[in-house]
Amino acid sequence: MKDTYTLDDLKNWDAKPKSQIRLGIFGDPVAHSLSPQMQNAALEKLGLKERYARFQIGPEELQPALELIRRLNFVGINLTLPHKAAALSLLDGVDDGARKTGAVNTVLVEGEKLVGFNTDGAGFLHAIRTGFSVDLRDLRVLLLGAGGGAGRAIAVQCALENCERLVLVNRTFEKAKELAAELAPHFAASRVLGPVARLQAVPWDEAVLRFQLANTDLVINATSVGMQRSDPPLLPASLLAPHLMVYDTIYHPSRTPLLAGAEAAGAKFANGLTMLLHQGALSFELWFDRKAPIDAMRAALPFT
Ligand code: ATR
Repeated sequence: MKDTYTLDDLKNWDAKPKSQIRLGIFGDPVAHSLSPQMQNAALEKLGLKERYARFQIGPEELQPALELIRRLNFVGINLTLPHKAAALSLLDGVDDGARKTGAVNTVLVEGEKLVGFNTDGAGFLHAIRTGFSVDLRDLRVLLLGAGGGAGRAIAVQCALENCERLVLVNRTFEKAKELAAELAPHFAASRVLGPVARLQAVPWDEAVLRFQLANTDLVINATSVGMQRSDPPLLPASLLAPHLMVYDTIYHPSRTPLLAGAEAAGAKFANGLTMLLHQGALSFELWFDRKAPIDAMRAALPFT
């Protein structure tokens, strides 16, 4: 098994009848994806013969690559950047969650049909439930990075769960406002929360965030800030307090400055590996219609 396959490999797939690869991830870049080790651990644990591989697929290669997996008897695939939104119009069917999120991360090959799903939002829900022993629906959530793909998936999930409160924050304020307008129907019912609105887009401003965080249980980083050593702190340390749960969708590094700040403040915290784990388990369950061996999948990931 090669480390990474390409569209050309897929075009010549018939020449490799012994290959057990019937699952994979399409991305660009894809080299650092942890999904193969996690999914192959699950397949081995259950004694299934199929294997999962990485596919380096550029934006213009997505359509032909999808056509090939339809013909090559694949079970399904995951999609990552930059394919999640583009796939929507290329599939035969898309489930409601993926349509609402505007993105597909899981494709199931059902006979001749390619059907799209999105397990990112539900994966996040499970990550919060197992990581912090609470349900999203009971939380007041502040989401940093409401303009990106991960932020959108999380915001839609918060809306579907009808969480107590959702505050959307984004560097480009306009995008947070647009998302708030789109999600407003989910928050129409009143809950008694005192002086704060249930759904709000607010500008990225320290004084504004300080006020909002006093009325927040869960803070989420869905921006890419914290991946690079040179990144500035996402929030001033003084904004973090012991009552908060802090979730960073980043998992490399495993402890971003935001999470180090959360720990120093005495807050609960978790990194994005749990979301990766749970979205992967949900994808597995869509492909095989059986419970994913989550302990084997967890053991294959670099939890410290
Ligand atoms: P994705 O690839 O997930 O679709 P992205 O375009 O990489 O998304 O952006 C992810 C999020 O990180 C966005 O919300 C982005 O804010 P903008 O909408 O203003 O671009 C946010 N982001 C990226 N760099 C940032 C920074 N230095 N400070 C704050 N937010 C940042």
